[in-house]
Amino acid sequence: MKAIVYQKFGNADVLQTVEQSKPGIQPNQVLVRVKAFSINPMDWKIRKGEMTLMSGSNFPKHTGTDFAGIIEETGSSVIGLKRGDEVFGVVKNLMKEGVSAEYVAVPASLIWKKPSDISFPQAASIAVAGTAAATTIQKMGNINPQTTILVNGATGGFGMFLLQLLKQYGANVTAVTSTKGADYAKDWGAKLVIDYTKEDVLTKKATYDIVIDLSGKMSYKKAKQILKPNARFLNPTPKPIEIPTALLSNFFTSQKHIVILSSPSTKYTDILLNALKNGLQIEVNKVFPFDAYKQAYEYAERGGYIGKVVIELD
Ligand SMILES: NC(=O)c1ccc[n+]([C@@H]2O[C@H](COP(=O)([O-])OP(=O)(O)OC[C@H]3O[C@@H](n4cnc5c(N)ncnc54)[C@H](OP(=O)(O)O)[C@@H]3O)[C@@H](O)[C@H]2O)c1
Repeated sequence: MKAIVYQKFGNADVLQTVEQSKPGIQPNQVLVRVKAFSINPMDWKIRKGEMTLMSGSNFPKHTGTDFAGIIEETGSSVIGLKRGDEVFGVVKNLMKEGVSAEYVAVPASLIWKKPSDISFPQAASIAVAGTAAATTIQKMGNINPQTTILVNGATGGFGMFLLQLLKQYGANVTAVTSTKGADYAKDWGAKLVIDYTKEDVLTKKATYDIVIDLSGKMSYKKAKQILKPNARFLNPTPKPIEIPTALLSNFFTSQKHIVILSSPSTKYTDILLNALKNGLQIEVNKVFPFDAYKQAYEYAERGGYIGKVVIELD
């Protein structure tokens, strides 16, 4: 089978296609013929060697973590799934495994049936960004229409799911987006939009109960300027040192710094599948064919698009 791998850390140039044998499966696993896999910022952070503490430095590495496809074979202990089912899922070890190939073997517990009214590229977009959004909602605590929430970087993959899940709570959400993201953010439930290319949210007067940064550009220290006295700053892009220091510092301050480390599971995909039934939209900005994988990664990494970028296989 065709697979995309890399043998050293670097830009998209280090990606190359190789021929590999189809993976075998364990009794609890499913072999999926991949129809689409999505691109997440984690892919290039790992590829550039920015996460070696968790990803290790062994090569070759595959890339890509969440996907959609058709079941080719099921392990002997798998129940409820069969050959031919259309599914979406995620690899088990997000830091060390990759799905960038024609076939992937994953535990049946990380596979879910694809709703028939969404495409393979849309389904491939759910497991990482959607699960992160559902995890974030839980970390927000009790949300009600009076809760003021700022989502900084609101129209990428994560923000797209988060805004729409928050809409269900009727929370008072302000979204920070680029100019082209403003209308999407409003459609997805934001009451107010701040265009980061024109205004600096940190110098405005408003303060919030919850601030979440999805741009990777607002630190806890900066966010404190716009946090209410008992507010929470949610951080899904912590530096490794912040994981213990955030926990420790929370004992001494009422403005909590909460690190988000999500892990896809049925608990969260159920929330998303339910939200899809209630109208959640998955915006796939661009679908690249498999052979254009380098352009796909370069395009995604440049940013400036709404929703997700996906690579599709025949
Ligand atoms: N901890 C976890 O479990 C977890 C899970 C999933 C993702 N993440 C992380 O969460 C982050 C968001 O993920 P994603 O998939 O949504 O990434 P993404 O699609 O790249 O979205 C990032 C967003 O930030 C916006 N942005 C860029 N510069 C900005 C600025 N100066 N001010 C405000 N917004 C700005 C971008 O808008 P424009 O492109 O329009 O400029 C884009 O909408 C990533 O760093 C990812 O690695 C963490």
